[in-house]
Amino acid sequence: MLQKEKRNVIVGQSGGPTAAINSSLAGVYRTARDRGYKKVYGMLHGVQGLMEGRYVDLSEHIQSGLDAELLKRTPSAYLGSCRYKLPEIHSNQELYDKIFKILNDLEIDCFIYIGGNDSMDTIKKLSDYAIITGSDIRFVGCPKTIDNDLALTDHTPGYGSAAKYIGTSVKEIIRDSWSLETSGGQIIVIEIMGRNAGWLTGAAALAKSEDCDGPDAIYLPELAFDVDKFVNNCRELLKKKASVVVAVSEGIRTADGKYVSDLEEETPQYVDAFGHKQLTGTARYLCNRLSNEIEGCKTRAIELSTLQRAASHCASRVDILEAYEVGGAAMKAADEGDSGKMVVIVRTSDDPYQASTEVKDVHKIANDERVVPESWITPDGTYVTSEFITYVRPLIQGDVAPIMVDGIPRHLYKPGFQELL
Ligand code: F6P
Repeated sequence: MLQKEKRNVIVGQSGGPTAAINSSLAGVYRTARDRGYKKVYGMLHGVQGLMEGRYVDLSEHIQSGLDAELLKRTPSAYLGSCRYKLPEIHSNQELYDKIFKILNDLEIDCFIYIGGNDSMDTIKKLSDYAIITGSDIRFVGCPKTIDNDLALTDHTPGYGSAAKYIGTSVKEIIRDSWSLETSGGQIIVIEIMGRNAGWLTGAAALAKSEDCDGPDAIYLPELAFDVDKFVNNCRELLKKKASVVVAVSEGIRTADGKYVSDLEEETPQYVDAFGHKQLTGTARYLCNRLSNEIEGCKTRAIELSTLQRAASHCASRVDILEAYEVGGAAMKAADEGDSGKMVVIVRTSDDPYQASTEVKDVHKIANDERVVPESWITPDGTYVTSEFITYVRPLIQGDVAPIMVDGIPRHLYKPGFQELL
């Protein structure tokens, strides 16, 4: 029987960027070329850009081995990202027809989407529509998110590098806090991303080592947060040491479900297409409360913000290599006929760390949130257990040396491309 000639692939990036998402892009590209696809297109700003006909031919961007190496070391989403929720199929079939017309005009066989739980909703809906209309385009998801909250996978590419940056930065902040004496003591509150999952905030505990006691307390969003108890805990800690460092998740909520970041006077907050509010100001709010309630104490609010997801200079080698492999695995799965699936990472051993990939039904993954098990949080709710550390430590191992130019890491850059984004 004659094998059908392979045509083209399109790949997109979606959701919050990471230090590893471009390594997955490089992995998709390499595998697509190795498997004989003619063109690999990149959507600009994910499916949202695609609907406006915005895409590039990736071969014009990855022209050499050096370009591929630079891409792996480039933070943020090279192709631009989006947080776009496709409507339900029955409510806007024309829009799906429009997307499929663009894909058919480009002679696409495989559509790979690198993203988190919201982005997998796109793979789910497009693969469903392909079944309904009898299209043979394959839709496969490639996991990515610093939040590490995707279901059915041991972890997500992007998480290890962000966790490494957080552990490193928290350790450096603690060091800094030892230097200057303050008469009334000082409390530093570090706010860490992750929305409703505490995987990233728990990584603050990685600072704890032979030469560092680690943060004094860690508050994850999995448990209800009590502001008065927090202030009391800090007051007690301050009786024992001059400088207290606490890590809190941006997503901590009081028992009635209100985000701590919303307790301040109502300020207009940005809400994305998936209904997620921008979470910011938790550390600032808590520091204001501490300053008001603990006389004479100096406070400092540190929001790690986008630094934690863009810090490719501190990327984990395990993470960057896995991101590349997972990109390749997504492409391989689509090439071999899978659709409506996402690649997952299966860990077989912690020490030595060993993992492999499989594919799972995206319907069981999209829109779900995997949070830290309560048994990995200490009974008093102010730290993570050794199980948490055993889980995260392998993911932050090794470095990827940046390619330095004039003392600063070099990223993949094509003149004129930024203007297209
Ligand atoms: O998607 C991951 C994430 O980094 C969350 O941890 C965070 O709440 C959110 O993105 C922030 O996104 P944005 O940059 O769109 O405000």
